Amino acid sequence: MSTICKNWTQWLKETRFSSLTEEMKSQTLDWLDSVGTAVVNMAQIQANDTVLDIGCGTGLLGFKAVEALEKLNGQGKVIFSDKFIDCVETCEGFLKENPSKVKCEFLNASCEDLQLPDNTVDKAMLRSVLVHIVDKQPAINEIYRVVKPGGVFCAFEPIIRSNTRYSELLDPKYIDSYHEFKDAEDKIMSDVTDSLCNFDDFTLKGNLDKAGFSSSSTMIHTIESKYTVTREMVIPWFVSPPSPDRPSMKERFLKFFDEAKVDKYISDIQNYLEGREISLKTNSVLLYAVK
Ligand SMILES: C[S@@+](CC[C@H](N)C(=O)[O-])C[C@H]1O[C@@H](n2cnc3c(N)ncnc32)[C@H](O)[C@@H]1O
Repeated sequence: MSTICKNWTQWLKETRFSSLTEEMKSQTLDWLDSVGTAVVNMAQIQANDTVLDIGCGTGLLGFKAVEALEKLNGQGKVIFSDKFIDCVETCEGFLKENPSKVKCEFLNASCEDLQLPDNTVDKAMLRSVLVHIVDKQPAINEIYRVVKPGGVFCAFEPIIRSNTRYSELLDPKYIDSYHEFKDAEDKIMSDVTDSLCNFDDFTLKGNLDKAGFSSSSTMIHTIESKYTVTREMVIPWFVSPPSPDRPSMKERFLKFFDEAKVDKYISDIQNYLEGREISLKTNSVLLYAVK
């Protein structure tokens, strides 16, 4: 686990916002809410559906599914599942404090071994979970196994390898060893053993088809955000881990360079970007598949 983030609940509630201003945090929360709504709407939940939220985290999708079922007034239920117990317990705790008439179950299981019988759920959904699994095919095969014939799988995943890179924001004239760091960043982003960047919409579509899903489709979603960089923002970009158990960008660069060189690079970036408006492209994909 990272030294600055002890578990997924902490990452979801605090760490992921550490480089953001209050205004950016609020925009991010609105965006996450709209993404959750988009995934749950895609699932077209029916009154008696069994809905599975895989890698539920703090319940972004699962609680929206509960709301959808509350309105439909049927016998449907939601299963909150996550590999990490702190997430399952967080969702369970929230529902104890905010009871719902919709039946909810809690499952401490990984996406690669969902611990449910074959053909159990009408709707399986996830957001930003496959990005944390190195080998996506067994995970998607497992999702296929638990979805009922005619059931739906829908998801939203970031496509990190095609996002704007640090090197694209910089002017080589002002950054020591710019080309060495650019090469290192390109290597990091094309590492096939790294779950965060070893896939895109095309490979995910291949995984869905190979698992046996029919009518699978992918829709790319690109956001261009512009903002002015402050000095304080830059350090968290490099030291915040992308998940509790994965190295930060600084730790990744330390595989290529010594610490003094990495710190100099980060400080050059602070000096160059402070007060400048940057434009960042962030890519994600919406997946929809029927068994
Ligand atoms: C970025 S969070 C997303 C949480 C939630 N789906 C959301 O949209 O806010 C990633 C989640 O995936 C879970 N996770 C990571 N690896 C997993 C795996 N192999 N199987 C199931 N869940 C996993 C983590 O515990 C965490 O809750």
